[in-house]
Amino acid sequence: MVDKDKLPRHVGIIMDGNGRWAKQRGLPRTEGHKKGAEVFRDISTYASELGIEYLTFYAFSTENWKRPEQEVSVIMDIFRDFLHEAQDRKAENEEKGFRFRFIGDMSKMADDIKMLATILEADSSDKSHTVINVAANYGGRSEILRATTRIAELVAKGEISSEDITEDMFSSMLYTAEQPDPDLIIRPSGEYRLSNFLTWQSAYSEFWFSDVLWPDFTRDDFDKALNDFANRSRRFGAV
Ligand code: IPE
Ligand code: IPE
Ligand code: MG
Repeated sequence: MVDKDKLPRHVGIIMDGNGRWAKQRGLPRTEGHKKGAEVFRDISTYASELGIEYLTFYAFSTENWKRPEQEVSVIMDIFRDFLHEAQDRKAENEEKGFRFRFIGDMSKMADDIKMLATILEADSSDKSHTVINVAANYGGRSEILRATTRIAELVAKGEISSEDITEDMFSSMLYTAEQPDPDLIIRPSGEYRLSNFLTWQSAYSEFWFSDVLWPDFTRDDFDKALNDFANRSRRFGAV
């Protein structure tokens, strides 16, 4: 049971622990990623049913390219499967009111992934029940640098002056422009770090950690995180 009056508007989830989940079962790491993708589908549906407006799933970081080529290639195939499936399930996703966004530097992705992602964003752009941000080739620092470069260009062209650079203006230059900052960030897998996730946006986020590995993460775990969140006292620096 979840207190619907105290729901976060925006939840960020670091989908971690896939490799260890597979290892525990004597399976290749990539099997963990496949199971993790199923959990992503289930938790997005559940969160949306509860009425959460924004979800950001950390799927692939700017640092994850350091992994073995074969693992990266399987993760890319999982993206492809998800994107094709989203096309097949267009009506179902429309009914759920999902709006998909890809946050991160998609220019480094394969052409077919870029194209399918652009189509999915466009096809779902009129939906608003739940925005699902998929963080792919995402890094918080790289996002901040990108925003800084864009702002520097505007200043150089004389379109804005340095006084126009406010926190709101800076936020509007990020991938998450026009979205509220994450109220709650969930990290399973027993790690207590952000790993370059939503660096700017998480300034006042509440954090919820768990030892559960992402492929084992259930709706019950999500409820636990929400219930903890409901009891947090957020002060934003005030008293
Ligand atoms: C998270 O699971 C998925 C990605 C980073 C793509 P991991 O693959 O990091 O799983 P562990 O942390 O090694 O168990
Ligand atoms: C964070 O997990 C990235 C994603 C879940 C996509 P990592 O497994 O890459 O993070 P570290 O290396 O443990 O910090
Ligand atoms: Mg990991």
